[in-house]
Amino acid sequence: MLNSELETLVETSDEWIYARTGIKQRHIAREDETTSEMAYEAAIHAIEMAQVQFDSIELVIVATSTPDLIFPGTACLVQKKLKLRNGAAAFDVQAVCSGFIYAISIADQYIKSGTTKRALVIGADMNSRILDWRDRTTCVLFGDGAGAVILDRGDAPGIYKTRLCADGSYSDYLQVPSGVSKPTGDPFIRMRGNEVFKFAVNAMDEIVDETLADTELARSDIDWLVPHQANRRIIAATVKKLGLSMDKVILTVAEHGNTSAASIPLAMDVGIRDGRIKQGDIMLLEAVGGGFTWGSALIRY
Ligand code: UT7
Repeated sequence: MLNSELETLVETSDEWIYARTGIKQRHIAREDETTSEMAYEAAIHAIEMAQVQFDSIELVIVATSTPDLIFPGTACLVQKKLKLRNGAAAFDVQAVCSGFIYAISIADQYIKSGTTKRALVIGADMNSRILDWRDRTTCVLFGDGAGAVILDRGDAPGIYKTRLCADGSYSDYLQVPSGVSKPTGDPFIRMRGNEVFKFAVNAMDEIVDETLADTELARSDIDWLVPHQANRRIIAATVKKLGLSMDKVILTVAEHGNTSAASIPLAMDVGIRDGRIKQGDIMLLEAVGGGFTWGSALIRY
């Protein structure tokens, strides 16, 4: 869906959306599509790319805030679609836009502790279902998508370190007010955009050094920053504070909009498939989302 199409729904313009966010378009799922279907497609692509056997996957984690159902978890529905009958553990992680970082951090702990040899980690969100299409302050920002990775136990460093943070005192800055035990009747994303923006820039600056601490790596070792794709201006401000240059950033916000838990794995996929991210490169992934939650992961591809 192009920005120009949104001009027919709300009082907005392509110029405003692009100038304030860097977004040119977003993908919107079909009415009959589900989050688990998008997650399944992403899983198949990841499995094919990693060239692994389906039944070697011992753990399936789906990061999502837009599950198909209240339960079973989306990860179980993906497992069913994959016909994975080997008893692999499967569960969802709900940490909104930081969900993928949370999920790979959990998978990493399972792998490093020796509990699991191979994990499938998916970030998938169908934000279009929780957007108020009359609210121009939110509906122009989000899109739908899914991305996935396979994590393996191995000799290479892989994930050097992950760092996860949360501060629930900000819960009303970015939320869907209606839920299961608290049905308020407002099932749409509500956001205090300016405040989220400021928090995001500061949190990202701090977490990068916290992540690099106790590793043998420095800022200058980072080949690629793969940030959560919420707003190009947030990413540009983070990059400036870090002293990096924009040509070290995988930027997909123009094409995808904010796809929440899917945005980082989608950006990784773009960077790897177009040949920019090469085997051995060091990536820093980082995200901020509702909660607030935030986190980062330092990875060698
Ligand atoms: O993924 C989770 C994390 N989420 C984020 O990181 C989002 C963080 N926030 C943002 O990205 C930005 O704050 C927004 C893109 C949401 C808003 O950008 P902004 O530069 O902070 O704009 P603003 O909210 O200060 O609004 C500026 C003006 C206002 O009009 P007035 O009061 O100056 O007359 C808004 O009413 O822009 C108006 N406006 C719009 N105009 C055209 C707000 N939304 C729109 C719109 N089209 N869609």
